[in-house]
Amino acid sequence: MKSVVRGYTAADAPAWVALSNLILGRSVTVESFQAEEARRNPTQFSRRWVVGEGEELRGGVHFYFFPFDPPGFLHASVFVHPEARGRGIGRLLWAVLEEAAREVGAAGLVADVLDTDPASIAWAGRRGFRQHAHRFASELDLKAFDETPHLPALARAEAQGVMFTDLRGADDATVERYLGFVADRATETPDLAGHPRWPLSQVHALLHLDHDPRPDWLILAVGPEGEWLGTTAMVRYRDLAYNELTATHPQARGRGLALPLKLHAIRRAREAGLTVMRTNNHSSNAPMLAVNRRLGFQTRPGRYELHLPLRTTSGA
Ligand SMILES: CC(C)(COP(=O)(O)OP(=O)(O)OC[C@H]1O[C@@H](n2cnc3c(N)ncnc32)[C@H](O)[C@@H]1OP(=O)(O)O)[C@@H](O)C(=O)NCCC(=O)NCCS
Repeated sequence: MKSVVRGYTAADAPAWVALSNLILGRSVTVESFQAEEARRNPTQFSRRWVVGEGEELRGGVHFYFFPFDPPGFLHASVFVHPEARGRGIGRLLWAVLEEAAREVGAAGLVADVLDTDPASIAWAGRRGFRQHAHRFASELDLKAFDETPHLPALARAEAQGVMFTDLRGADDATVERYLGFVADRATETPDLAGHPRWPLSQVHALLHLDHDPRPDWLILAVGPEGEWLGTTAMVRYRDLAYNELTATHPQARGRGLALPLKLHAIRRAREAGLTVMRTNNHSSNAPMLAVNRRLGFQTRPGRYELHLPLRTTSGA
């Protein structure tokens, strides 16, 4: 039977979630997928196409704005059911995606491919994608975690006059200052180096303040003069504590503050009854990787971030 690409409709959601879970090894529920869709900023680009339907859904493509991508780039996620590969479905989906990218004038495409999947990496390579970064998830078993060996690191930070606090009860001005602090720290990470500073509304959404606010999970290290030295921010995905960002101000680096910050996040996650903490790391982020290793995070298979520039930007 000839495969045809058609536009995605809301009725495709259950089959879409089942197929993308299968391919990406995730366990997203249809409800959380739909809730996330409903929260999507309508001004931010997002389009999907599929091949097949229901249990016969053979493949799909999601073409969308993803805030971590370089300016003007759009995220491209093409996937085909493992049993339907090598029959040209990927090519069909790619043709639709390429045309859409041209139509909207995307500066380039970003794709994530599992680092355990050389065939898909090669497929993307034949379309011009090149490796840009390698990331992997790390997970900490919060049930088994013992904070005792890390208490001296906390004491050393406190001996410098550093206090650990959070955003509970913060007024609007403090929340806004915090969003700016995170936006500034984010551009200092390997993930967003060289990107423009995020609008505060984007940071607000990243920290789930728009739908699941946990000001007690936005933790600050504060110096003796009240100066903000660093932060760690945690959000929840069902029963998973996700450590979105841990960062210290450039002037507060090398003072051993990252581990105690994370320790506070771990405490709060355990108090909330969560059993696993996850974080994503850029392979080149040596200081963060070292802290995670010391705390006992276990690495999981990762992903390559691939880039395909489509047009060169004008100007100097
Ligand atoms: C990458 C992926 C989408 C490819 O899907 P696919 O349906 O196997 O893609 P195709 O069948 O079009 O292409 C696979 C290869 O099969 C062969 N092929 C294509 N059509 C064929 C046909 N009709 N008969 C025989 N062989 C065929 C070709 O060698 C083709 O590669 P090429 O187009 O680069 O020459 C799929 O492996 C996947 O879902 N991977 C996981 C998600 C992912 O990592 N996506 C990649 C980046 S977004």
